Amino acid sequence: MKVLIIGSGAREHALCWAAARSERVKTVFVAPGNGGTGLMGGKVQNVPLKATELDELLHFAEDNALDLTIVGSEQPLELGIVDLFRRAGKKIIGPTQAAARLESSKAFSKAFMKRHEIPTAGYHVFRDAPAATIFIEQSQTFYPQVIKASGLCAGKGVFIALNREEALTAIKNLFEDRIFGDAGDEVVIEEFLHGQEASVFVLTDGIRYRLFLPAQDHKRIGDGDTGKNTGGMGAYAPATLVTPEVMRKVEELVIKPTLTGMAEEGSPYTGFLYVGLMIDRGEPSVVEYNARLGDPETQVVLPLLKSDFIAALQASVDGTLDQVPFEMHQKSAATVVIASGGYPDHYETGKSIIIPDEFTSMDNGMIFHAGTASDRGQLVTAGGRVFSVTALGETLRESIDRAYHIVEKISFDGAYYRTDIGAKGL
Ligand SMILES: Nc1ncnc2c1ncn2[C@@H]1O[C@H](COP(=O)(O)OP(=O)(O)OP(=O)(O)O)[C@@H](O)[C@H]1O
Ligand SMILES: [Mg+2]
Repeated sequence: MKVLIIGSGAREHALCWAAARSERVKTVFVAPGNGGTGLMGGKVQNVPLKATELDELLHFAEDNALDLTIVGSEQPLELGIVDLFRRAGKKIIGPTQAAARLESSKAFSKAFMKRHEIPTAGYHVFRDAPAATIFIEQSQTFYPQVIKASGLCAGKGVFIALNREEALTAIKNLFEDRIFGDAGDEVVIEEFLHGQEASVFVLTDGIRYRLFLPAQDHKRIGDGDTGKNTGGMGAYAPATLVTPEVMRKVEELVIKPTLTGMAEEGSPYTGFLYVGLMIDRGEPSVVEYNARLGDPETQVVLPLLKSDFIAALQASVDGTLDQVPFEMHQKSAATVVIASGGYPDHYETGKSIIIPDEFTSMDNGMIFHAGTASDRGQLVTAGGRVFSVTALGETLRESIDRAYHIVEKISFDGAYYRTDIGAKGL
């Protein structure tokens, strides 16, 4: 088989790694990929096409007679890449544009959850500043309140307002200063949920589904969950707070009604569904859906999949998802993100990176690249999050120690990482 993976982060590096391990795969193309996928060699090859160049991607898939395309990132889904490929008869993993609204429109996903009685925070949607302002000034709301741009904002569109003044500032930022452009045309104001977050990834063909191990991300930049929100500074799996009992509730109260609800409404959901949860005393509620795998959780969830990843994906397009093995290693995994100093605010790029040879092969742990590039043969930094270092272990403790052992050996000017990834799960 020849497969194409679309995206350029550590998530896509992990997808390439999982695809290349499959015996049935001969070639893995990744568009555009990154410095790390460019170094993989063997079956893996970067293709210089952007994730948003849909027509070019389709031509590439047709010209090279590709068997399967896997969409890593959300933008092409929102633009309708799945609809485009399917119309052309090309197999692709992901939701249609209409189904991807579970992620691309928070106003849609909140209303959907309400229609189907899926547990989530109470909310209101606003389409202009005056209405939102009146709501904030007149309602007897409790703080914190969570204020979100409805559209895609690359993980930056959420304000947690601690008081009325902060809430009004958020409304001004969204509607008047339009800091997220059209993505802020609709704004969701919702109740603050207490508890601990975890995420569950589902692979589905619209009816049948299979579950990956639950994971926990670390969104804040600083140790002890302090400082600004980031794209994610590390993750581990399985997340111990998602007990079998909690998982059963997630399936019954969230996953099943989501899939049947989407099918009933005429937009069956296919591909990967990311369910972001808040778990409070064993009761899950949905914080958000994403229409693809999450980063950095993918970097722990995929290495824990024991059975053939591509065989499962193929079964999901063939309608035989319930007939393939979908087995997990009885192990733990941790991934630690190494970022450029200053991230998530201003940071510099172009710093030379040193990785000792013993860690450049994937045998001693997995170094997934995010923001790297090759500058005349030298690996340099090219983004905020630079690497995601994953290790497996018999226990969570062992996987954490192994990951940090590698992290400490990777160096570039200003490298930053959290030192407490996975501690919550111990
Ligand atoms: N109702 C809520 N109560 C408490 N915290 C919340 C709530 N909604 C969002 N958050 C916090 O804000 C984060 C981001 O919110 P959300 O996942 O909705 O935004 P997003 O921009 O879609 O994120 P992502 O980039 O992960 O897709 C959550 O992971 C959570 O930490
Ligand atoms: Mg999201």
